[in-house]
Amino acid sequence: MWFKLLLHEFEKVRDDFTHNRPWEAVATLKRVRTVMKVMVEQVDIVETLTPMSFNSFRDRLENASGFQSAQFRELEFLLGYKRPQMLKYHPAGTPGYERMWRRLHEPSVVDAFYTFLEPHGVTIPDELRIRDVTEPTVPNEVVEEGILRLYQTQPDLEILFELMTDFDEGLQEWRYRHIKLVERTIGSKRGTGGSLGVEFLKKSLFHPIFPDLWAIRHKL
Ligand code: HEM
Repeated sequence: MWFKLLLHEFEKVRDDFTHNRPWEAVATLKRVRTVMKVMVEQVDIVETLTPMSFNSFRDRLENASGFQSAQFRELEFLLGYKRPQMLKYHPAGTPGYERMWRRLHEPSVVDAFYTFLEPHGVTIPDELRIRDVTEPTVPNEVVEEGILRLYQTQPDLEILFELMTDFDEGLQEWRYRHIKLVERTIGSKRGTGGSLGVEFLKKSLFHPIFPDLWAIRHKL
């Protein structure tokens, strides 16, 4: 349910960026930040399941896993964390495949963020402007310089950037809580989805959605 709401809200944020509506984006980013706080807190409930209780039904899950959450993968793609290899868990014809494929091939929230930044005087290099949108977001020093200048000259936009950072931190917090949940419940066992489990999940633990906002913080 939360992933569905986040998808809806970030579609709106993407539209707001595309149409230069920073204040509408601010209102929505406040909501998604709050959703992340609730999601992080709710892990407490699942953590009341002991390893032995979980093991009593784990076999019945067979290969069912979080990997089958098309909405989570859609959300990652919409946010610009494009991992096309994850489509293999959703073969053509399965529910969600079409939606995930579409999200993979459409511009992300970060692409729309570039569109928003440009009229505010931030240079968006050609390699970003005409990039292959199926590729994940990469940090860019030219964009970072532009954002840094906006931080220093436009305190109103600082509010927007800080809310984006709040969400980004919230998503990483959720990943951390999910990893600890997995670790305390199944330890170093492989996941039912076939991955290495904790070791696999750790790879995206510190992955930022908005890398340019994190890269400049020591200069603020
Ligand atoms: C005891 C409870 C849980 C265990 C043991 C567990 C375990 C795992 C493992 C091992 C993976 C890696 C994929 C695999 O090989 O299966 C995974 C992925 C995932 N789980 Fe869980 N999980 C639990 C609860 C939850 C809950 C409550 C959520 C709900 C929101 C969730 C959402 C996900 C998602 C979205 C992924 C994909 C993450 C990614 O690809 O980065 N899991 N889980």
